Amino acid sequence: MEVVKTIHELRQRRRIQGLHKTVGVVPTMGDLHAGHLRLIDRCREQCTFTIATVFVNPLQFGPSEDFASYPRALAKDARELERRDVDLLFAPSLEEMYPDGQFEHATVSVPNLCDELCGANRPRHFDGVTTVVIKLFQITQPDFAFFGEKDWQQLTIIQRMTKQLDIPVEVVGVPTCREADGLAMSSRNRYLSPAERGIAPTLFLTLREIAMNLHEGITTYAELEESATEKLRDAGFKPDYVAIRDPSTLKAPASADGPVRVFGAARLGRARLIDNIGVTR
Ligand code: PAF
Repeated sequence: MEVVKTIHELRQRRRIQGLHKTVGVVPTMGDLHAGHLRLIDRCREQCTFTIATVFVNPLQFGPSEDFASYPRALAKDARELERRDVDLLFAPSLEEMYPDGQFEHATVSVPNLCDELCGANRPRHFDGVTTVVIKLFQITQPDFAFFGEKDWQQLTIIQRMTKQLDIPVEVVGVPTCREADGLAMSSRNRYLSPAERGIAPTLFLTLREIAMNLHEGITTYAELEESATEKLRDAGFKPDYVAIRDPSTLKAPASADGPVRVFGAARLGRARLIDNIGVTR
């Protein structure tokens, strides 16, 4: 596996790959866990050249968020990716990605979807995500790009951006990887104390209970959301939201049948956990 740190070098390598390979990219912020590795495996199944990127993107962190303390483990990540037969790792510096400074940088924004759910609690977060993702697409020029469904809103926004801006990349969503007790894998799970780690699966279990109710035909959305929020609070979380939404518009479901998705975000100690579950009706 080659490790490349500059855009110039990446473009040179990318050109050598030429037109004969199907190129896939897996963008990450590093500190890789089994969820990331599933994205890599999915990419390798579908593509003949796999690029992983590791970059902790300051643009998507709010001023009081965890950019400085976000776990960084590049040497370990590189070993893991090498073992997984990744062809190329792109790990640029901050200066390489934002040479004019992060506050002077052009941004890309997807209206409406960005203000829902996590967007309401993390202003401009998704503009930071779309901006870095479009840069990574421009730099790596992939045919396919792989993102986890755990970040369903992020995935939906990236798919919408790619379509609206006619970017020739197929954005593929990969199902969430969970621990044995249901907790969705996330780099931020590291922030949990042992006691909090014991409580953390309650988020998934609470969303799953709503999902079962919806599956049985219950449509009292507000009541389901409220009682789940209460349950999370009782378990020790500080919930940001529990919301039943249309999977593509991310707004309240327009009808009593058809697919929906249950979303939740809640703080537990230092960690902000998110999760979501799809429901067919
Ligand atoms: O999901 C992530 O890890 C990040 O939001 C992404 C897509 C790598 C952009 O920084």
